[in-house]
Amino acid sequence: MEEVPKIVVTPPGPNARRLLRRDEKVISPSYVRFYPLVVDRAEGSLIYDVDGNIYIDLNAGICVMNVGHGHPKVIEAAKKQMEKLVHYSNTDFYYEPSISLAEKLVKIAPGNSSKKVYYGNSGAEAIEASIKLARWYKRRQYIIAFIGAFHGRTYGAMSLTASKPVQRKYFGPLVPGVIHVPYPYVYRCPFGSKDDPEECSQRTLAFIEDWVLKRYVPPEEVAAIVFEPIQGEGGYVVPPDSFIPGLKKIADEHDILLIDDEVQAGMGRTGKWWAIEHFGVEPDIMASAKALGAGFPLGAMIAKEKIMVWEGGSHASTFGGNPVSCAAGLAAIEVIEKEGLLERAKNLGEKVMKRLNELKERSKIVGDVRGKGLMIGVELVKDKRTREPGIEEANEVMIRSWKAGVAIITAGRNVLRIAPPLNIPEEYLDRAIDIVESKIKEVESLFST
Ligand SMILES: Cc1ncc(COP(=O)(O)O)c(C=O)c1O
Repeated sequence: MEEVPKIVVTPPGPNARRLLRRDEKVISPSYVRFYPLVVDRAEGSLIYDVDGNIYIDLNAGICVMNVGHGHPKVIEAAKKQMEKLVHYSNTDFYYEPSISLAEKLVKIAPGNSSKKVYYGNSGAEAIEASIKLARWYKRRQYIIAFIGAFHGRTYGAMSLTASKPVQRKYFGPLVPGVIHVPYPYVYRCPFGSKDDPEECSQRTLAFIEDWVLKRYVPPEEVAAIVFEPIQGEGGYVVPPDSFIPGLKKIADEHDILLIDDEVQAGMGRTGKWWAIEHFGVEPDIMASAKALGAGFPLGAMIAKEKIMVWEGGSHASTFGGNPVSCAAGLAAIEVIEKEGLLERAKNLGEKVMKRLNELKERSKIVGDVRGKGLMIGVELVKDKRTREPGIEEANEVMIRSWKAGVAIITAGRNVLRIAPPLNIPEEYLDRAIDIVESKIKEVESLFST
């Protein structure tokens, strides 16, 4: 095992600084940019920066590299495809890789109904397709979405997104017909039911039913409810067990479609192919992207066959279902199957959660630990009693961990997210968590003096 992480020069080093100066001149300042990590190459669960530092990757390129960086099977499949055919617009003609991947996707999709696949290039495009199909099929205008949600930044997806004001500021008017309702964020339940998941779940469901659908939004005009089975950018928020089944009940009662956004939580991250499988509900439409293309741009909407009946020309995209992306995506699915990565994500995730829960007992700033599989959030607070969000604390832990060789980022405002490649060697994961833990302790003493 390599002696990692390895910091040979405090980042950002001289080569990184040179590139940062060039970047600043030509790249849009709208990007997020957590910290000035300038990546040269990556392999497995390690990231090498341009100054020779080696980091352990706890974010997997924002939940994209679920099978690790440069997996030989993925690279081989992509190379082979690149030599044969790089592009020939799947929306206008036909080729085999998009068919093979779709055949696989409909097999691993949740539930027993027959399904079909629409391809785009990103998560936002998979969401655009989902809301367009829902409106087209139902001939209804309204879409219900959740506060705290992140579905992307194109106009349709942005209109559903509601996790940070900056994502919407000055961009209005947004797409009309979107109604936002609270999400059952148990640690900060909008209905005040302190730490009782069931009560938070029932109150949130009752709000949708009694205050939205009975007071001002005619249910017969609602096309779909769009949700993340675990909120990602909103802060790695896991809903109570009864919540998604409760949503399904409301949806069934009013003949509304359920759109499941698996862009971040899907493709094995939570220990199942799709996070919604933890809740036993089959969605009508599902959006996938990120890890779907194993690092190549790819998004997919997977919908019940009886719903995917829109006419030719109603929705398409030149690059959607690129053959190289599809070949890489199919190879990644086979890797997850052959290497038993679903089971691995579940087992490693349980170990990490146990460790972090023990830390929570001892720490003054770890307020909540939650997650499924290797999608784990650690919420930092200034004070465990008031639960005032530890925004500076989370930021400080993130930066200190990075400088010590762990690429970890935050979600929401004050949540550390732990989302490494699913095949990260256990030893690396342990070392990375050791470092993050030590930085939490450092920051705790820094802010309490
Ligand atoms: C749940 C979810 N949906 C949609 C998106 C948008 O995906 P993309 O950035 O590929 O457009 C993201 C991106 O973070 C996401 O986390």
